[in-house]
Amino acid sequence: MNTVQLLEADARHVWHPYGGFPASTSPLPIVGASGVRLTLADARELIDGMSSWWAAIHGYRNPALDAAAHGQIDAFSHVMFGGLTHEPAVRLAERLATMAPGNLEKVFLADSGSVSVEVAAKMALQYQRARGLPGRTKLATWRGGYHGDTLTPMSVCDPDGGMHAMWKGVLPAQVFTEAPPAHNDEAYHDQLRAMVRNHADELAAVIVEPVVQGAGGMRFHAPDYLRTLREVCDETGVVLIADEIATAFGRTGALFAVEHAGIAPDIMCVGKALTGGYLTLAATLTTAEIAEAISAGEAGGLAHGPTFMGNPLACAIANASLDLIETGRWRAQVAQIQQGLLRGLEPARELPGVVDVRVLGAIGVVELDRDVDMQAATDAITAEGVWLRPFRNLVYTMPPYICSADEVAAICRAVIAGARATARAVAS
Ligand SMILES: Cc1ncc(COP(=O)(O)O)c(C=O)c1O
Repeated sequence: MNTVQLLEADARHVWHPYGGFPASTSPLPIVGASGVRLTLADARELIDGMSSWWAAIHGYRNPALDAAAHGQIDAFSHVMFGGLTHEPAVRLAERLATMAPGNLEKVFLADSGSVSVEVAAKMALQYQRARGLPGRTKLATWRGGYHGDTLTPMSVCDPDGGMHAMWKGVLPAQVFTEAPPAHNDEAYHDQLRAMVRNHADELAAVIVEPVVQGAGGMRFHAPDYLRTLREVCDETGVVLIADEIATAFGRTGALFAVEHAGIAPDIMCVGKALTGGYLTLAATLTTAEIAEAISAGEAGGLAHGPTFMGNPLACAIANASLDLIETGRWRAQVAQIQQGLLRGLEPARELPGVVDVRVLGAIGVVELDRDVDMQAATDAITAEGVWLRPFRNLVYTMPPYICSADEVAAICRAVIAGARATARAVAS
């Protein structure tokens, strides 16, 4: 298939994320990826400033991850997890339990981030039922969040500004309060307490993305709010779920984002970078108390068991990724990227239409006063030799941890070029 044929067939048959027919822009055909670079069909190379949607933290063709994949394929790629078990999954669960904050020692291996959020919600619902509180069926959260594309996660995504606004009236009605302010604001702590106390009788859980709200708007907030949520959830018997799918494994400068607040949730979801971006895998972790209550309840266990649960290939690669995380090298890498982003994105503040520039760990965001012109921005970004995927009014980067200082500088130039292209497209 030559490139023209490939793009024609793609346009005719293939759904892309949030896509339609005809697609609004044509995708770039990729023929290879190595280190931090993607190779296009026309032989151009682009530095990947997205880490394939925040997952490929160790880069592509990583020798350790490749070796783990080959080793596991030569043994076996998949077996069902009902009635069978294997070392890749058991080792992974044991290691996640050790790494995780608090006492999150029971691990459910799910097949995507959205599914792990479904599982987290189901755990909370079954737990409340098992303790004789079947009326506790709702979830509470703050606005501006994103938790995935299946129905339960969608119901706790931002109800107005998010991608799922059109599902109002279809999704279960959950409890919302305003989006968390960037800085510590005493009045907002009261608002969080009120949200949970006023609805405690109907709430199974509070679910939040700790410290960074990702696909809902790339917003950062004061970690202090998580301590208040921890306190009020303890006071009311509401389960606290931390969705660390975007933040876990060092992205914010801490191994898990809840560490910025010094708290542990009752349930935690991880995914994305878990396999270093090689394969889809996520995990939902919880405490022995919740697991034992669910197990003693009417269902006798957790009512979930996907076909590809605990996929050995994904687990083997995840173990290799955790080996790299456990070296601790990510700390210096993320700190260096943070410095590079702070320096490299600073000039964006002077651009017309830029309303905010923010950096936390290996996350850099330029927020505009209008939606990005996707075609103009993508052309300007790729002309700088970089791959970024802006959304709404945001041009942002989450680079692989192995990016050099020069590569981070190139990504920053591309972010600025993308922001500038939007301003130019509006002016012309
Ligand atoms: C915080 C958060 N939760 C859940 C998800 C959904 O994960 P997945 O796309 O693997 O289903 C995402 C994906 O961007 C996410 O950022």
